[in-house]
Amino acid sequence: MKRDLISVEDLSPAQIREFIDLAGRIEALPAAGRCRLLEGRLLGVLFYEPSTRTRLSFEAAMLRLGGRTIGFSEVAGTSVAKGESLADTIRTVEQYCDAIVIRHPREGAARLAAEVSRLPVINAGDGANQHPTQTLLDLYTLQHLFGRIDGLRIALVGDLKYSRTVHSLVHALARFAGVEFLFVSPESLRLPEYVRDAAERPVAARETTSLDEAVRTCDVVYMTRIQRERFPDPLEYEKVKDSYRLDRAALANAPAHLRVMHPLPRVTEIAPDVDATPHAAYFAQVGYGLAMRQAILSLLLGGLP
Ligand code: NCD
Repeated sequence: MKRDLISVEDLSPAQIREFIDLAGRIEALPAAGRCRLLEGRLLGVLFYEPSTRTRLSFEAAMLRLGGRTIGFSEVAGTSVAKGESLADTIRTVEQYCDAIVIRHPREGAARLAAEVSRLPVINAGDGANQHPTQTLLDLYTLQHLFGRIDGLRIALVGDLKYSRTVHSLVHALARFAGVEFLFVSPESLRLPEYVRDAAERPVAARETTSLDEAVRTCDVVYMTRIQRERFPDPLEYEKVKDSYRLDRAALANAPAHLRVMHPLPRVTEIAPDVDATPHAAYFAQVGYGLAMRQAILSLLLGGLP
């Protein structure tokens, strides 16, 4: 049976572990050992929404494993602009490829693509819903930074309402023993109840509006961008867009081991003067993304080391 990656909710703890272990094994392989794993395979990369890291890292991962890619990064040049349905685009691309990666502004689009297609489908973000490959790379990053995920105290900061990266990550982390959350957001961007309720275990969490509390008491501060494109009303965005800014001065009270993560892109929520501090982990996180996306492609396409 084909294997898709649509939502973190579909993954068992053992399957999450499988991805993390595989990323480690692939990273340990010399380039020469990796570069034939997906030789002759073709990945369709369909991006209906902007992206830098997710798209380029999937393409780089495929190329580094010896495969190739085709696709689009905006719909303007495709038949979508003529009114073609998502299902018909998927039925077309599957004639050419061996797997599909899709990013789409609508919640549920990746699930629909997986139902329509006989190929493995990977969700690279569907609206404000889920971003499972980001979550797997976030977990892999935590494993590297701390040597464990169990028992970490993690602050999720910013737009907890619309950030799909947060929604996926809360689901996944709730499966690890003893993880504690601090949810830090403006009142209007609190984590939706349905995200907390859907977690398998009760989520041990407190909510606050104070970034300072997060910096002083957590192991990880996971910053997010206020998701301007998801706001129904631009005036509401204007009210909250500058809610949080983490700069070097704000880190003065941080414990030495605190690490700052961010799925990127950042706008104003992390000042550039944080980059050179030992707390900054967001560019290392980007690097772990390449390893994790190699693991995902290798597992779903059956090119295991
Ligand atoms: C995130 C996304 O697309 O959800 N970006 C990413 O994939 N690293 C975060 C964001 O856009 O704010």
